[in-house]
Order: sequence, then C-alpha cells, then structure tokens
Amino acid sequence: MPGIDTFKRVAREVRQDLAAARQRDPAAHDVGRVEILLTYGGVHALLSHRIAHALHEAGVPLLPRFLANVTKVITGVEIHPAARIGEALFIDHGAGVVIGETAEIGDDVTLYQGVTLGGTGFESGKRHPTIGDNVVVGSGAKLLGPITVGSCSKIGANSVVIHDVPANSTVVGNPGHPVRVDGKRPEGPDADWAHLPDPVADALKGMAERIGELEELVAELSGTEPPAQPAKVRPLRRGAGSDPAAG
Ligand SMILES: CC(C)(COP(=O)(O)OP(=O)(O)OC[C@H]1O[C@@H](n2cnc3c(N)ncnc32)[C@H](O)[C@@H]1OP(=O)(O)O)[C@@H](O)C(=O)NCCC(=O)NCCS
Repeated sequence: MPGIDTFKRVAREVRQDLAAARQRDPAAHDVGRVEILLTYGGVHALLSHRIAHALHEAGVPLLPRFLANVTKVITGVEIHPAARIGEALFIDHGAGVVIGETAEIGDDVTLYQGVTLGGTGFESGKRHPTIGDNVVVGSGAKLLGPITVGSCSKIGANSVVIHDVPANSTVVGNPGHPVRVDGKRPEGPDADWAHLPDPVADALKGMAERIGELEELVAELSGTEPPAQPAKVRPLRRGAGSDPAAG
C-alpha cells in the first residue's frame, strides 16, 4: 500500500497543478484555488491520475484502472495510470485528451483539449510519446509513437506529429514539421515545407507570358492595337491572418 511519503508527494503535485492552472489560463488569474478545484475538468482528471498512478506504482490491482475509467466518463480525459507525468501539468478545457500507458510528460507542460499522446498501432513496449519540459501542445494535436518532443517546443493545433521534435521549435501541420527552430525559419533543402514552390502556377505564368508575346506579334502583323490588358497570371491573394494551407 502507498506510504506517507506517497501521500505527501501526491499532495505536493496537486498543489503545483492548481498553481499551473492559475498561471497558464488567462481566465483563471483572478480565480481562487477552491474554484479551480471545483470547476476545472482537466484539473479533476490530473488529480485523479496522481492518485491512480500512486496506487499503480504501489502494485494495487484493478483500482487504478477503475479510477481512470470513472474519471474518463466524468471529464472526457483518459490517462492510463502507468503514464508518467511531471510537475505542474495543465490540461486546459480537458475534454477529449488521451494519454497512453507509456507516455512520459516533463514539468510545466500545457495540453489543450483534444490532444492525443498515443501509439501508432498494435505494438507493445514503449509506444507513446515522451514530452520534454515547458512544451505546449495545441488543441486537437495528435502525437503518435515513441517520439520525443524537445523542451520548450510548441505543437500547433491539429498537427499530427510522428517524428521527433527538436527542442525550442514550433511544429505544425500533417505530417507535423518544424516551421521555427530557435525562433528562426528552418534552413536547407526541403526544410521549409510551408513555403514550397508551386510548379502549376509557374507553368501558367510561363504560358501567359508566351500568349502576351503572341498577341503583341499578331497585333503588329495585322496592324491592329495590341490588347490593352496583356495576358498575365495574378498571384493568389493571401487571406488575412495565418495561411490555412501552411503545412
Ligand atoms: C503553433 C502555435 C503555438 C504558434 O507558435 P509560434 O512559435 O508562435 O509560431 P507562429 O505563430 O510564429 O507561426 C509559425 C508558422 O506556423 C503557422 N501556424 C501556426 N499555427 C499553426 C497551426 N496550428 N497549423 C498550421 N500552421 C500553423 C503560422 O501561420 C506561421 O506560418 P508562416 O511561417 O507562414 O508565417 C499556435 O499557432 C498554436 O497552434 N497554438 C495552439 C493554441 C491552442 O490550441 N489554443 C486552444 C485554446 S482553446
């Protein structure tokens, strides 16, 4: 059975989790700990996991899985009791989060709703991601397989990440790829997947230039005026805000 040290550890972890919610949810800055404890589904799920994990570590049968399942039904957050979670995790909004059995999460990590730290198939052994300290995983992101996400990285909302992520980087898209490393766009061939050349647009532009030249030639030969508007391809106008096609 868990000893007094385990209870002390769980109490400390819960205090840190509450502080994390207060620091990282802009809507919680003026909210007291009791209110967070009563109203935050992600905090409930984590609190329950801290207890289930301690029971699991102490070799208690059935109860940890039962507790995890009841918590899933109530909060919509499923955390396997064996998953290793560091200090001050914040699961914002909670719903739809899945954290697999062999997942490992460092300290001060933030997960938004709909995040999956899952496996890719039916393999056994270490098959879930390892997340470093200070990582933010955006809503709906799927991190699959025994990949490693380096410390202080950000995973964009709705990304599907199946490869290791370097530290201090931003990864977006499906498949997830770095768009910032140490604050800069990645350099080198094939590094910047969000700004690929567009061979179809290039071909159309070439054709339009040839048509323009032919129109001028026809006008010259026939002694007529060339068209006032030469054929040209206008570049696609980028909408305001982030490019939804990026990634
Ligand atoms: C990825 C994120 C953390 C921003 O990180 P950042 O390091 O500040 O990156 P930037 O905003 O400079 O964006 C870098 C590039 O990725 C693109 N990008 C950002 N988020 C993206 C996403 N989720 N999907 C696809 N592309 C994305 C940007 O358009 C930008 O493209 P550019 O290189 O063409 O300029 C943020 O966009 C995000 O997804 N946060 C998740 C927040 C969330 O889930 N909130 C839910 C609250 S309920």
